[in-house]
Amino acid sequence: MRFIKAAILAGTVAVLAATSAFAADVKIGFIVKQPEEPWFQDEWKFADAAAKEKGFTLVKIGAEDGEKVQSAIDNLGAQGAQGFIVCTPDVKLGPGIVAKAAANDLKLMTVDDRLVNADGSPIDDMPHMGISATKIGEAVGQAIVDEIKKRGWDMKEVGAIRVSYDQLPTAVDRVEGALSVLKANGFPEANIFDAPQAKTDTEAALNASTIVLNKNAGIKKWVAVGLNDEAVLGAVRATESVGIAADSVIGVGIGGAESAINEFKKPAATGFFGTVIISPKRHGYETALNMYEWIANEKEPEKLILTAGQLALRDNYEAVRKELGIE
Ligand code: GLA
Repeated sequence: MRFIKAAILAGTVAVLAATSAFAADVKIGFIVKQPEEPWFQDEWKFADAAAKEKGFTLVKIGAEDGEKVQSAIDNLGAQGAQGFIVCTPDVKLGPGIVAKAAANDLKLMTVDDRLVNADGSPIDDMPHMGISATKIGEAVGQAIVDEIKKRGWDMKEVGAIRVSYDQLPTAVDRVEGALSVLKANGFPEANIFDAPQAKTDTEAALNASTIVLNKNAGIKKWVAVGLNDEAVLGAVRATESVGIAADSVIGVGIGGAESAINEFKKPAATGFFGTVIISPKRHGYETALNMYEWIANEKEPEKLILTAGQLALRDNYEAVRKELGIE
């Protein structure tokens, strides 16, 4: 009897040891297109939390172009990783990324930016987590319309800067969602000006927006939309550089990470009026956890998860962040 008990006990210990040894063997890559952007740093931070919780290894890689993505995947394969999550610098790299992942026997999930086929259609056979782009864009548009009305502006005298990055479907959905609400509320289509950015960062948005402002120097009141906070901040910086007062500008971004927070912390309000806060916790922690479950327990993640956002302004962003569990 004593012998049996001891044997059972030993068996349990062995199983436990094997499980934790397995977790330690799990290696997951997390590749992002713009490691310097606060959103992606937050995503990594929350993915790290999942790694710590489950005991797997997370390999964080910044890959700003196609070549770097390809070598990152090879590198993960050589390191013995079992899977990776990627936000690609270019969604058209889709088929190449899929092939590289298969060649390295790596499970693949995408986050933020969904891969597309050569014809531009989404590659929908791997799990993806993105934001509900149109809806969130609409929330941006509604916030702008509400504020235009509150300020008593005549929409005919207002210009809209559409900071655009049209090669990225989620960017199109976001800005078009916002502009659809503006137009539905009587904003004249002729007052909407496209400002195509070469890259999805503040500097590129500033350059693109400056051109629009210089070409339309007669317009003295502006609103701005874009795919993220950086895009809208670029437009706001451009209005400042041509001498338009902060209270003549309504920019509403998407994100709610450090870029937006720094703006809200400034002693005086700027033209960056608000942001729709999205959740880097869901996009970082949940994707990493889902990948782990896929590798360790063969639990395949949901094919498509679209996360929500919540509008925040200068005076309530801290409460909104807390509510979303991203403090
Ligand atoms: C894109 C943008 C990022 C961020 C994410 C959110 O990747 O470039 O700034 O908004 O979407 O999903």
